Amino acid sequence: MKIGIIGTGYIGLTEGLCFASLGQSVICYDIIKEKIDKLKKGIPTLYEENIDFILKENLEKKAITFTDDLKVVLSGSEIVFLCVNTPENPKTGECDLSQIMDSTESISKMSEILGNKFFILAIRSTVPVGTNKQIKEHMLKINPKLNFLICSNPEFSRQGSAIYDFMNPDRVIIGVDNEKSKERMGLVYKPLKDKGFQIFFTNIETAEMIKYASNTFLNIKIGFINEICDICEMTGANVNDIAKAMGMDKRISPFFMKPGPGIGGSCFPKDSIALAKMGNKLGLDLQIINASVNSNIARKNSLANRVINYSKNKLEGKTISLLGLTFKANTDDTRYSPSLNLVEELAKKNIKVHAYDPHGTDKFKYMVNPKTLDFIRFYDNAYLAIKDTELLIIITEWDEFKHLNYKKIYDMIHQKIIVDFRKILDEQEMESIGFKYYYIGKKI
Ligand code: UDX
Repeated sequence: MKIGIIGTGYIGLTEGLCFASLGQSVICYDIIKEKIDKLKKGIPTLYEENIDFILKENLEKKAITFTDDLKVVLSGSEIVFLCVNTPENPKTGECDLSQIMDSTESISKMSEILGNKFFILAIRSTVPVGTNKQIKEHMLKINPKLNFLICSNPEFSRQGSAIYDFMNPDRVIIGVDNEKSKERMGLVYKPLKDKGFQIFFTNIETAEMIKYASNTFLNIKIGFINEICDICEMTGANVNDIAKAMGMDKRISPFFMKPGPGIGGSCFPKDSIALAKMGNKLGLDLQIINASVNSNIARKNSLANRVINYSKNKLEGKTISLLGLTFKANTDDTRYSPSLNLVEELAKKNIKVHAYDPHGTDKFKYMVNPKTLDFIRFYDNAYLAIKDTELLIIITEWDEFKHLNYKKIYDMIHQKIIVDFRKILDEQEMESIGFKYYYIGKKI
């Protein structure tokens, strides 16, 4: 089938490539010309495992093309996937639909030029319940002759494993309001259905809501284990054994039960906030959802104090080293990253940071409060960042950090302390080197 993708970001690009690998013919569009120029040359615009290889392969096969001309996508596609960002509105906390509205307005105007060719518009971006209907009405208001059907097809791919997740979905959710879109969307996902993956059809509002309910549930699940972890730190109970044993209960499942520095990324924090706001608008008091939002913010803001306590208050005016800036490993994304909260809180206490991340430095510089930047120096090598600092914090679980030479690092840090917010190192090994090794969940 001929597929168009509007918005060639994390989701648009990885999924465009996946559809191409599954044998569909794909045109990806983005408003940013430089991005399109790079992609045309086979240069990936984001970090995801193997993306360079998959991009090159599909360009060579001519299974995927890139354009910054909206006409080209619309004229060449039977199904257009809308994959633009729906970030948090920083003033209201609600889902900001401006990119969705701008794109759909442009499509409405454009298809008049294209002679009202039929297409299906699949909304892949996360949008509050009722938005698909609003988009449809808005588009028809601009152009009543528009010949299209709308459906909701929320994405569930995790950054860092987006390609694997797309190709091996737990389920594909498709919200439709007629048989024609059901049949067409069924054809797009036939290669996955043939491999035995579940395609779940429902109505449009339900599909929109499944995305928010799933992400917020996982947010609550991780927030819960983080709070259990706090109790363990005070009592000596072992949080990892608790998570393992709880996970043996099929009703709970072992996944998304790892305690850590708090939840980041482009989805969980903002989707939970947006769901809470949806509840507010409906006059509902969603206590569990609101509490999960606050609990996560509090956890991320508490990280600096934990480090200061571990060092027995000996950090003011000094420099610490930080490994990891991205919100998790295998991505260059720093949105809502716990390291942002950590450095901002440290800066408030006049503690400087020498930081290293394999892929996230540029995006981190862009995200962090400009005043805090004065307190941070960035390095392109872990050892250079660590050298001559008071203590070492590990906040992202990059594989590279597991394989550093910690005997060498021992001589580089003054207080001989490692604070490991992901528990990626071996406690016995670190203690045998001589470190005071604190990890999340350890009795304080
Ligand atoms: C998420 C969803 O998983 C995906 O379905 C959705 O469509 C997009 O958002 P992503 O943000 O890429 O994916 O990351 P994910 O791997 O889900 O992790 C989210 C956050 O939770 C990260 O900060 C991660 O470090 C944290 N996490 C995850 C934990 O702290 N513990 C866990 O057990 C799992």
